[in-house]
Amino acid sequence: MKRDEPLPQGEEKARAVRGLFDTIAGRYDLVNRVMTFGLDVGWRRRAVRELGLPPGSLVYDLACGTGDLCRDLQAKGHRAIGFDFSFGMLAKARTDAPLVQADVLRLPVTGASADGVTCGFALRNLTSLPAFFDELARVVRPGGSIALLDASEPDGAVLRAGHQLYFRRVVPVIGGLLSDRDAYAYLPRSLAYLPPPAEVHRMLADAGFPGSRRIQLTGGAAQLLVGTRA
Ligand SMILES: C[S@@+](CC[C@H](N)C(=O)[O-])C[C@H]1O[C@@H](n2cnc3c(N)ncnc32)[C@H](O)[C@@H]1O
Repeated sequence: MKRDEPLPQGEEKARAVRGLFDTIAGRYDLVNRVMTFGLDVGWRRRAVRELGLPPGSLVYDLACGTGDLCRDLQAKGHRAIGFDFSFGMLAKARTDAPLVQADVLRLPVTGASADGVTCGFALRNLTSLPAFFDELARVVRPGGSIALLDASEPDGAVLRAGHQLYFRRVVPVIGGLLSDRDAYAYLPRSLAYLPPPAEVHRMLADAGFPGSRRIQLTGGAAQLLVGTRA
């Protein structure tokens, strides 16, 4: 994906996203730690806590990438299974949780089979949020919970301006030095795919997660959507 190209949609987007993560997999974890100053580690742990599930729960980590959330889930005593469509990312995973190469919009699992779902930094990479939320509603049992983490922009004007400067100007440079500049120019731009919070809550309610909550992390640099399957 080139920096000045319009953001792709539909199947073209899915192909581009998969190719992008296959390309950057080798240094994905390193760039994450550097560009978030290590804050992403705490954000994932918070996502696991917000699930509010007892140890032993079966949790699918969707778009698991290199398996960070799988490890955090296991550290809390959960049974984790990771799903991702990028073989490059799965091949670099550092977890002993079972991993499945699959499209998270069409999971190869039976309905109501999970106590919970986590998903880290992937919402904006999906081709359809309503289709994803429908799939979550299919696989999570009634009373089960979801914790969906993604990047975000702070609400206040000053913080927002600083964040935009960092995310749009500095992150691509860090990405270029350590990995692939085009990929790390795309990732900040891809925030534009995310609808406003009220619309996301409505989509979640329509799918079967009424009353979802949005938690802003580190001044709004990241967000966590938490919900319970009706
Ligand atoms: C930014 S990475 C996040 C990885 C990991 N969850 C984390 O917290 O670091 C986004 C991941 O979403 C995966 N992904 C995007 N769309 C997907 C889809 N439709 N099905 C499966 N995986 C998908 C990509 O392959 C990539 O590994």
